[in-house]
Amino acid sequence: MPQNTTKIKKCLFPAAGYGTRFLPATKAIPKEMLPILTKPLLQYGVEEALGAGVGNMAIVTGRGKRAVEDHFDISYELEHQIKGTSKEHYLTEIRAVITKCTFSYTRQIEMKGLGHAILCGEPIIGYEPFAVILADDLCDNDKGESVLAQMVKLYEKYQCSIVAVEEIPPEDSNKYGVIAGKEEEEGIFRVTDMVEKPEPKDAPSNLAIIGRYILTPDIFDIIRETKPGKGGEIQITDALLAQAKQGKVIAYKFKGKRFDCGSVDGFVEATNYFYNKSKA
Ligand code: UTP
Repeated sequence: MPQNTTKIKKCLFPAAGYGTRFLPATKAIPKEMLPILTKPLLQYGVEEALGAGVGNMAIVTGRGKRAVEDHFDISYELEHQIKGTSKEHYLTEIRAVITKCTFSYTRQIEMKGLGHAILCGEPIIGYEPFAVILADDLCDNDKGESVLAQMVKLYEKYQCSIVAVEEIPPEDSNKYGVIAGKEEEEGIFRVTDMVEKPEPKDAPSNLAIIGRYILTPDIFDIIRETKPGKGGEIQITDALLAQAKQGKVIAYKFKGKRFDCGSVDGFVEATNYFYNKSKA
């Protein structure tokens, strides 16, 4: 079976979470559809994948997330209304995305955690390596390649699962999966341990996993065997630990910025950053 073929062709977007930190906004609108300026978070993620040469989007949605499917489709009435007017350019970017990508959807029926959401994507992904983007972690690298593009390149060399990591203040360790590893090249670590949301005193390092992954497809069988962990959820960190124990996970200190748009502070920070960028 073509398990570790070099090319990453599909990107999975787990987008079934409740987004409780954004209630009441997320009562009827998926968190992934909240906009930074005029563009929904999920569209930023899709554009990042496309820019990294990954054109097939696999989106795991849940109840109340129909807006996601409608967004990545033509709106005939709207198109007809603004065709030939001065407003037509507002749709240029999303039209480009729709024509260049394919979109496949599946639903996570019960929100049993990120690991479980990734497992729900298995029928779309099949048995090949794939990327994962958590759209509420918004990344930007104005000095070069996007974070996912950097990781896709790294995969060509390492041919194993890769997690993007960033240095965090020690007191924040209980919000992230935290890794321990041996630095093999500058900013590239062979992972030896990973812990989901450790208390600062138990954190194995200050390197936290953010919402960008490349996973080899053996992860699906591992997730199936993974028991619920922190918060009673099936954690991708716990499944990745099984791969890490075989020396098959790389942690990559990416180049660029990351905004935690799942939190109000990160969302406002991202809004200011992209606003200033748009005016520069
Ligand atoms: P988060 O924990 O940040 O998202 O999960 P959440 O649960 O929606 O947010 P809060 O904490 O209630 O405010 C990270 C990502 O994993 C997805 C989420 O949609 C988000 O993109 N996720 C999480 C799922 O798809 N399914 C799950 O069961 C859990």
